[in-house]
Amino acid sequence: MASSSRTIGVFDSGVGGLSVLKHIRATLPDANLIYVADSGHVPYGDKSPAYIEARSIALTRFLVSQGAEAIVIACNTATAAAAHSLRVKFSKLPIVAMEPAVKPAVAATRSGVVGVLATVGTLESARFAALLEKYGGKVKIVTQGCPGLVEVVERGDLHSNEARRLIERYTEPLLKHSADTLILGCTHYPFLAPLIHEVVGDEVALIDTGAAVARELKRRVDVELPMRTLDTARGTVTFYTSGEAEQATRIMSVLWGNVVEVGQLPQEFI
Ligand code: DGL
Repeated sequence: MASSSRTIGVFDSGVGGLSVLKHIRATLPDANLIYVADSGHVPYGDKSPAYIEARSIALTRFLVSQGAEAIVIACNTATAAAAHSLRVKFSKLPIVAMEPAVKPAVAATRSGVVGVLATVGTLESARFAALLEKYGGKVKIVTQGCPGLVEVVERGDLHSNEARRLIERYTEPLLKHSADTLILGCTHYPFLAPLIHEVVGDEVALIDTGAAVARELKRRVDVELPMRTLDTARGTVTFYTSGEAEQATRIMSVLWGNVVEVGQLPQEFI
């Protein structure tokens, strides 16, 4: 029987989107997943919206050329810069994007103060301002850009002194404001959650959007890409990078939790 599995393309500025891919794999185990880490261009957080938009279009083109029938932008910064134009350009594809989890954090806080850890690009975007306007009214929201934190995760450096020092520096102002709920507004940061917990203590809740994005993706593809036959086979997962493939293989294997092979993105998409 020909496979009826749906093929879903997922991209991020680098390895961070693997934190979202894990939720997608668990939620849609039969789907074939293609992941692109744009590590040759990481970080996106200090790039212009036009640059990130051009990268997002190139990566989506590649994923479509590989058979992707739906796209997940597993990157808050790329969502802010490019979700709108991707939806215009690829209007026939379901495109699921992600943004900092302001709504659930506002519902969860007991101190009435929510902290947001994200890239400078996300925090400065009109999209984030609209999110605050929509959901932030009742509580105090304190934001903190985190230069350097994405690079730490890109190196697979999840427990070093440098990682701890950066986390201490970025969480201190939020804790000073009595934030009891921290939004991990960048898909790289869930990989640092154990260290962030060590620094801020267990009473402070960490919230990210990976699971919600996977649920939204399932809802969309079940409606828009119905399965043609019942296929219970486990789907495949394929990995690409625009960075250095050998290093990506090493680091992505650690973050994914299994040995994976990472292919080089073809030159025309780099
Ligand atoms: N994972 C990306 C995000 O969610 C990181 C952006 C960057 O590369 O700076 O925003």
